[in-house]
Amino acid sequence: MFTSNKTQTSINSQKTTLCFSIADKVGALEDCLSAIKATNVSLTRIESRPSQTKDWDYDFFIDLDGVNAIKVKEVVEKLRAHTKDVRVIGAESTNGNVPWFPRKLSDLDSFADKVMEMGEELSSDHPGAKDPVYRARRAEITKIAKTYRTGMAVPEIKYTAEENETWGKVYKHLTAMYPTHACREHLYVFPLLIQNCGYGPDKIPQIEQISRFLKDCTGFTIRPVMGLLSSRDFLNSFAFRVFYSTQYIRHSSKPLYTPEPDCCHELLGHVPLFADPDFADFSQEIGLASLGASDEDISRLATIFWFTVEFGLCRQDGEIRAFGAGLLSSFGELEYCLSGKPEIRPFDPTKTAVQSYPITEFQPVYYVAESFKDAQEKVREFAANMKRPFSVRYNALTQSIEVLDSKEKVVRFARNIRDDMKTLTTVLDSMM
Ligand SMILES: [Fe+2]
Repeated sequence: MFTSNKTQTSINSQKTTLCFSIADKVGALEDCLSAIKATNVSLTRIESRPSQTKDWDYDFFIDLDGVNAIKVKEVVEKLRAHTKDVRVIGAESTNGNVPWFPRKLSDLDSFADKVMEMGEELSSDHPGAKDPVYRARRAEITKIAKTYRTGMAVPEIKYTAEENETWGKVYKHLTAMYPTHACREHLYVFPLLIQNCGYGPDKIPQIEQISRFLKDCTGFTIRPVMGLLSSRDFLNSFAFRVFYSTQYIRHSSKPLYTPEPDCCHELLGHVPLFADPDFADFSQEIGLASLGASDEDISRLATIFWFTVEFGLCRQDGEIRAFGAGLLSSFGELEYCLSGKPEIRPFDPTKTAVQSYPITEFQPVYYVAESFKDAQEKVREFAANMKRPFSVRYNALTQSIEVLDSKEKVVRFARNIRDDMKTLTTVLDSMM
């Protein structure tokens, strides 16, 4: 997928997530719920967890839909009559609040039908725009993405002979160029995809099989998507090591051209890199930085994403190679980016983040990363200077985001690291 720099607030109703904590005593929750009811707001979700602080027994997370900042304040004040610990986790209304962000994997379900462009509707310059059979096929495939929810297997698509033929043409063109143009990691993973995921020129591989393979490699999984998501939604998913992938393919009349991401772009360009641990870490770093970020910072992160995950170059063994999916899925630009014609600069998030770029033409400038680890460190440093009043970490055990906004949470985090350090020390001692 590519991203869009448009903000999501224009297409969604306002949603706010609150967290409040209560003691284990009869009637405590009922009092809180009655207080919310008295404000006449629509409560769309409530979830409970054992409390993360010693003063309370349970944490409750609630979503309020269609509320403004004044109403949120009223709800918070009413709740505070019954519990002192009430926090606004995030709000889609950005009037001074932290923008809403997903806290657990299933929260990504709310993005299912929030596409901004493409999907079932095609722009007038799309090669398939005037082909009713192609449009009907697109609608059939995007329906899967619309109904997909966390935990489901991605349904298999029975691709037609024509679709498989289009894939074959793209596959043969690109794989002929990879040995001289693709980065080391892409070249290492590609044969594994042939062996494990049905990659080859004869038929389009299935997302479910690829997603299982990636999960074994780096914990990344793939979800189907209808079309173009907002930058915020798309980047947020990377915090969970989730990649949104289209399943439809470009129009057969122009197999070597597409004005939008399709399965050739996703499966040949993106997927191989998500099997590399360092690249997976780098991608997740951008995702974590995007959680609750301001619209301005989302725009900067999306630009960093554009010049790395989509159009990035890297230096390896004295050569420059491509790792961006937009390059690895376009034989024209893959050749051009290493031709010596475009300008090439070192990757520096503070400068890269504000570089303007064309969407429908070859890039006039590309950025070179020294390594994925180096790029990750630089993005982490960039994120540390963003205006965000909290830090986050991904808990892989619960597949959820922990907001490090209290001393107790930071202490628990430090204890986890200390336990890991003990294990590491034991292993090192046994190797001496
Ligand atoms: Fe992409």
